[in-house]
This record gives sequence, C-alpha cells and structure tokens, in this order.
Amino acid sequence: MNLHNASLYISAVAPAQYPPSSVCEIALAGRSNVGKSSFLNRLLNRKNLARTSSTPGKTATLNFYNIDNALFLVDLPGYGYAKVSKEEKKKWADMIDRYLHTRTQLVQTFLLVDVRHLPTDDDLAMLNWIKSRHGRAVVILTKCDKLKKSKLEGNIKDAVEHMNLSEDDVYIPFSSETGLGRSDAWKIINSLMDGGI
Ligand code: GTP
Ligand code: MG
Repeated sequence: MNLHNASLYISAVAPAQYPPSSVCEIALAGRSNVGKSSFLNRLLNRKNLARTSSTPGKTATLNFYNIDNALFLVDLPGYGYAKVSKEEKKKWADMIDRYLHTRTQLVQTFLLVDVRHLPTDDDLAMLNWIKSRHGRAVVILTKCDKLKKSKLEGNIKDAVEHMNLSEDDVYIPFSSETGLGRSDAWKIINSLMDGGI
C-alpha cells in the first residue's frame, strides 16, 4: 500500500455520499479534541491532511480518507463537547450512529482516549458498542508525550483497568507528536485488512 497516495475522498453527512466502494474501512471514534485527526495525520505522516484544532468540535462531518484505493480511514466528529448546541450534538450523534450501524465494510472502530484522563461514561458506552459490533476493542491512548514516563505507566494501567480490557482487546499508547505507537497501529491495520487481528 502506497501511503503517499492518500487523500480526502469526501466529507459526508448522509449515507448517499459514502464512497460506493467495498474496500475495508476503519473508523476513528472518541471525544472531541482527543486527537483523532492528528492520529490520522501521523499514521500517514502528513501534517495537514486532516484538519486539526486546539478548539474542540473541529471535525463536523464523516471524513473518508482514501488510502491507495485499499483502505478508507473514516475520521468521525468527536462526542462530549459541551459547547456544541443540543441540536448539533443530536445531528452528529445520529450521523455517527447511522454510519456505524449500517456500514458493512467497517472492519473495526478504533476508540481514541486521552491518556491523561480516565475514560468517560461516553467512552465506556462506545467501547461496549465496539466490542459487540466487532468482537474486540482497539483502543488508542493518545497524547502520551504529555506525561512523564512514571506517570504515563500508571495512567495506562488505570485506563486499561477502567475499561476492563480483555486479552482479545488491543490497546496502543500513541503520540502524534513523537510517532510513538505508529508502527503498532499499522500492524493492527494491516492484519485487519488481511481479515483478522
Ligand atoms: P475533533 O475533530 O474536535 O473531534 O478533535 P480531534 O479528536 O480530531 O482532535 P485533533 O486531532 O484536532 O487534536 C486536538 C488538539 O490536540 C490539537 O491541538 C492537536 O495538536 C493536539 N494533539 C493531538 N494529538 C496529540 C498528541 O499526541 N500530542 C500532543 N502533544 N498534542 C496532540
Ligand atoms: Mg478531528
């Protein structure tokens, strides 16, 4: 797969706009500002392919990135951002639910969680849904560069315990700043594309 051949295919708000292709898809879910778009950029080593922002609520559509006609990475709007209006939140939640529940080529939803904070109730709800839909969870613990090593180890342990991850689940400490976890993430993606972890 040629990672240089990556581009935004469409910013979709409705199923009619989803790519009419059956290549496998991996979706990125998580709270607003957790680092979903930055994760995608780091995977592809592209600084600004997906728009990022220190203001939560940046990604407001389902953004399908075509990776060499072999894979779509789908950057989802974040949940849990207080300042988005109630109507907007409902619209985003419906849009995300519709995609996650109906898309047959979706082989895995990655849950991104900020390693500095314990997963929220929304994160746990998403985690449970992911487990029931895909049979396993893949959790990306983001922003690992922001903690000192000793604190980082404790936070990773706490997060894994709080999420009650089993041996079938996968978690990857990640940093879009340093590239920590990038090769592990690709290992998982490649094995998912081959039909299993
Ligand atoms: P929404 O689109 O609003 O849902 O946010 P998002 O989850 O896509 O987050 P985004 O990638 O836009 O990142 C949010 C902020 O966190 C930006 O200022 C990023 O630069 C920063 N950030 C993301 N990942 C990391 C990381 O691994 N390390 C550090 N230091 N900052 C990060
Ligand atoms: Mg985003």
